[in-house]
Amino acid sequence: MKIKECCTVISQECIAKDIYSMWISTKAIAREAKPGQFVSVYTKDASRLLPRPISLCEIDREKDALRIVYRIAGDGTREFSRLRAGDTIDILGPLGNGFPLEEAKGKRVMLMGGGIGIPPMLETAKAIQGEKIIVSGYRDELFLTEELNAAGQLYLATEDGSAGTKGNVLDAVKANRLEADLIFACGPTPMLRAIKAYALDKGIPCWVSMEEKMACGIGACLACVCKSTEVDGHSQVHNKRICKDGPVFLSTEVEL
Ligand SMILES: Cc1cc2nc3c(=O)[nH]c(=O)nc-3n(C[C@H](O)[C@H](O)[C@H](O)COP(=O)(O)OP(=O)(O)OC[C@H]3O[C@@H](n4cnc5c(N)ncnc54)[C@H](O)[C@@H]3O)c2cc1C
Ligand code: FES
Repeated sequence: MKIKECCTVISQECIAKDIYSMWISTKAIAREAKPGQFVSVYTKDASRLLPRPISLCEIDREKDALRIVYRIAGDGTREFSRLRAGDTIDILGPLGNGFPLEEAKGKRVMLMGGGIGIPPMLETAKAIQGEKIIVSGYRDELFLTEELNAAGQLYLATEDGSAGTKGNVLDAVKANRLEADLIFACGPTPMLRAIKAYALDKGIPCWVSMEEKMACGIGACLACVCKSTEVDGHSQVHNKRICKDGPVFLSTEVEL
């Protein structure tokens, strides 16, 4: 069930250069939300009609609150970064399918996040019972490491080598000889492509959360399609709508 709400900002802080963390009080969205889902966040500027999709970083169902962590990419996210506690913000959600937590039961799960794909891995890791290996890849400045460390066994990779393994998340996997039965990943497409190839080579089932520019966010406009291996039941072509059928797909279902 997706709901559009006028929500109240509980708090907002800058947690790294151009990266902001916002807790938002909702009436029902948080209660309905699952890890790996996202919300469409509306700007107040009438010249920007389309909402911005942002993943759920944490879900507090008891307090009916959501945490989003986002990078300033353009005018919409810059506007969000100026909001303060008590301000209101329109949100539609929860949207998308989320990570298949039932697949993780009894398995050693590796959660891989790169850059702004790291935030959704936090709530996903918190929701998984059992062994969790979290591998986070940063350009240089770290964020969310304290929370990720509390949610699982955390390994870091940085492009400049300032923390953890120098390189990307797969370099950290190799350097630490990490092994898993299942992979959940979110990050830029080149990273997901490399993880898909690694998982295929090792025979590990792998689910990836994909990003694409979106318009409606609810499956109606086809702005966000990606190529799929199977014919889609909705459009009868080799397409999947990332906003509605995803954003999480079995890596072998989609072309990366
Ligand atoms: C399912 C989903 C979940 C997302 N979760 C997060 C998140 O948790 N945190 C976060 O920081 N960002 C996330 N994004 C990306 C975020 O939606 C864009 O950064 C945001 O819409 C940019 O809006 P803007 O008005 O600030 O910038 P714009 O002016 O609209 O764009 C600025 C730049 O960002 C690029 N861009 C815009 N939308 C996207 C997109 N969807 N993917 C990649 N590049 C884009 C544009 O091409 C342009 O170069 C997510 C995107 C999707 C589809
Ligand atoms: S954004 Fe409209 S169908 Fe996905």
